[in-house]
Amino acid sequence: MPQEVRGVIAPGRDEPVRVETIVIPDPGPGEAVVKVQACGVCHTDLHYKQGGINDEFPFLLGHEAAGVVESVGEGVTDVAPGDFVVLNWRAVCGQCRACLRGRPWYCFATHNAVQRMSLVDGTELSAALGIGAFAEKTLVAAGQCTKVDASVAPAVAGLLGCGVMAGIGAAINTGNVGRGDSVAVIGCGGVGDAAIAGSRLAGAARIIAVDVDDRKLEKARAMGATHTVNSRSVDAVEAIRELTGGFGADVVIEAVGRPETYEQAFYARDLAGTVVLVGVPTPEMKLELPLLDVFGRGGALKSSWYGDCLPSRDFPMLIDLHLQGRLDLGAFVTETIALDEVEKAFERMHAGDVLRSVVVL
Ligand SMILES: NC(=O)c1ccc[n+]([C@@H]2O[C@H](COP(=O)([O-])OP(=O)(O)OC[C@H]3O[C@@H](n4cnc5c(N)ncnc54)[C@H](O)[C@@H]3O)[C@@H](O)[C@H]2O)c1
Ligand SMILES: [Zn+2]
Ligand SMILES: [Zn+2]
Repeated sequence: MPQEVRGVIAPGRDEPVRVETIVIPDPGPGEAVVKVQACGVCHTDLHYKQGGINDEFPFLLGHEAAGVVESVGEGVTDVAPGDFVVLNWRAVCGQCRACLRGRPWYCFATHNAVQRMSLVDGTELSAALGIGAFAEKTLVAAGQCTKVDASVAPAVAGLLGCGVMAGIGAAINTGNVGRGDSVAVIGCGGVGDAAIAGSRLAGAARIIAVDVDDRKLEKARAMGATHTVNSRSVDAVEAIRELTGGFGADVVIEAVGRPETYEQAFYARDLAGTVVLVGVPTPEMKLELPLLDVFGRGGALKSSWYGDCLPSRDFPMLIDLHLQGRLDLGAFVTETIALDEVEKAFERMHAGDVLRSVVVL
């Protein structure tokens, strides 16, 4: 029997989000229904609401979640009802050219639920990143459920489902940050701070946090930044060079998603250094760089989708590090909120007041 639950939808471009009754179908083959316990508010949800990702309104927002599997469809063997899981948006197919080459984190055919969730009048919903977890329950592909240690609070574990994984992975997977490296992170929201925490885990010797908001810089220091730069008052490129012996950082991670901050990242790295773009740009943004500089500065210009993570490998590992006290995932949770407070949480995110607001159900 399909179930009716409450969920947060974005009805149209730039319209306020609202709580609606959502219809959740029974899980079909390869699908699972998950009782959501917590779901963080990520900037990507705001991008969806603003129409910055695509036009497939209405969206069921929320994608940074943890919960308990309620029921599974035919053929599901990896997870069972009662399992505590973090939801992921990279359920790898095992068969595409990336998977077959042994690089499943680039999988080109990741699984989502085949059936759609809908409004009571039958309007089909587009689930943000194939998850849609600002809801009491959600329907996903079973492969989107990654089982983790149930002793971690859902509000904390769920963060691995998107922003924190994206940031940590941008540093340790995409950027290959290693012992002794210098790293600069531009944009210190949840994603940027996770890149800082990841760089610290990887043994970076110098971690420079750049933001336009002093409150964010203070928090970044607590996450592991060794130096901070407010790029509203000083030139970020000059400041990063000064802090790295005049050369630039080995790895610069852009966690804003704008051409001007990408350009800063491009010029703030050392010769043959690495730029990692983890911030998500919008369709109209353009970048112009002298091609000679692209050539002459060498190195690697990379993008990081979801921190190049493999959920089955990385989520349990990061949960272990958290339980050992080596990675403070709890520090990312600024506040816990109710389902009907998501719109307010967007405003607070926009105002820079929070790292992560987490909806707890
Ligand atoms: N690549 C991925 O897989 C992935 C996953 C999740 C989120 N993201 C993206 O990462 C970005 C950050 O997400 P978030 O949740 O941390 O957002 P956030 O809004 O919490 O943080 C953004 C930070 O950037 C700072 N900032 C804004 N303009 C700046 C500027 N000009 N210079 C320096 N700092 C500036 C803000 O003060 C804020 O601290 C977003 O674009 C989001 O969509 C990417
Ligand atoms: Zn694949
Ligand atoms: Zn996200």
